[in-house]
Amino acid sequence: MTQLPCLGFSLNTFMSLCCSRDTPFQLSPETLQEVSARLRKDLLRGLGKHSHHKAPVKMLPTFVRATPDGTEKGDFLALDLGGTNFRVLHVRVEEEAQKVQICAIPQEMMLGTGEQLFDHIATCLGDFLESHNLKGQTLPLGFTFSFPCEQLEIDKSILIRWTKGFNCSGVEGKDVVQLLKEAIHRRGDYHIGSVAMVNDTVGTMMSCGYKDQSCEIGMIIGTGTNACYMEEIKNVKRIEGKDGRMCINTEWGGFGDDGCLDDILTEFDVEVDKTSINPGVHIFEKMISGMYLGEIVRLVLVKMTKDKLLFKGQISEALGTPGRFETKFISEIEDGLENAKKILTELGLDWDLVDASVVRLVCDTISSRSAYLCAAALATLVNRIRNNRKLGHLKTTVGVDGTVYRKHPTFSSKLQKAVRLLAPQCDITFLVSEDGSGTGAAMVTAVAQRLAHQSRLLEESDGEDNEEEEEEEEEGQ
Ligand code: BGC
Repeated sequence: MTQLPCLGFSLNTFMSLCCSRDTPFQLSPETLQEVSARLRKDLLRGLGKHSHHKAPVKMLPTFVRATPDGTEKGDFLALDLGGTNFRVLHVRVEEEAQKVQICAIPQEMMLGTGEQLFDHIATCLGDFLESHNLKGQTLPLGFTFSFPCEQLEIDKSILIRWTKGFNCSGVEGKDVVQLLKEAIHRRGDYHIGSVAMVNDTVGTMMSCGYKDQSCEIGMIIGTGTNACYMEEIKNVKRIEGKDGRMCINTEWGGFGDDGCLDDILTEFDVEVDKTSINPGVHIFEKMISGMYLGEIVRLVLVKMTKDKLLFKGQISEALGTPGRFETKFISEIEDGLENAKKILTELGLDWDLVDASVVRLVCDTISSRSAYLCAAALATLVNRIRNNRKLGHLKTTVGVDGTVYRKHPTFSSKLQKAVRLLAPQCDITFLVSEDGSGTGAAMVTAVAQRLAHQSRLLEESDGEDNEEEEEEEEEGQ
């Protein structure tokens, strides 16, 4: 357990001073196993033909039926919306060459109308084509759109809901490809070829899969969190056909939306959810991802200051302002005490050395919980793949991306260590994606389009699932 050096007592003792539960942010291995088991049940609900539409973990078919074989070629455009930046890319797959342009999406636009957003995207794409002399060509386009979408075909994708601070009107329930094409049509000065819709997890899996053909999981721990993996088609009851595999976008950020994680939520998680623009949804994501971690830390620090445990009981204006404690501060503070001092000064706080050490421990506790919860969820996926294939031992690769995973000094090592404990029969290689949303999108466009027409969704219906579907046996869990 983490010891607070200057005070000689543990952070748990400290945290229990301000929370009703003993160790609100520190989850035991047994609790993590329990979280993993609950997610396992939710994966089955999401895969079921009839239970799917009520399932919090959506398990969305992606129509990507194969990972790359390394021979993919071609010239593609890619759009990447839903991560830290909106980007437009031109990718030449076999040369690993690309040109990238970052375009800002102003905050007002994230909350404006869908038409404004798609007009802006079409303008950025138009400017990019113009400045790279590509306007005369009609290139295929991979659209990395990192929000939960019900994909009907590779180029037909209905937005289920916005996440991560976006809330543009008139887009939920609509086909995003259509909205993009309409915006391009309104301009009328360029054309695009066929479009493939890609979730960032899928792009990540595919870009890593180009280099390592045993990559069959893609995971993002950035602004949001999510994972996809290759599932046996016979288990995806909403898809016609029984043979082969399909990549499933789990949308694990929605885990807990039915209340199944309420017993591990802290008062700070509840507050973060309540004050978000989408209360009640993406509960798991709100405990884990970069959009929310900074705010959780801020709320804990405010509470401790009010309880006179920090900063001589004085809350600065910055610390009292929602959103002012950025998630990147967590990485910086954990990286060194000097950074902690600098950030606390910038936040206008009257700190001493003990305060700075306590703040580091608060950051460590909250980022560690995030890493361990991700590990529990990833363990569910690798254990499922192993059971699907009836293997005693699974060797697999996970493609990973996202600012939290990449930039935090100890997040990745904590996550990897915990997965090894929670999935001891799986030997996992972690590969950081070079550019899932660009190269990966191009890869999906190359691989998936030719295979997409082989499967289609079955009609949705309201009946109950067969018991055999809900209670699908899995060994060794
Ligand atoms: C979205 C996912 C996405 C994840 C990571 C979540 O908020 O729902 O579709 O993959 O963020 O970007």
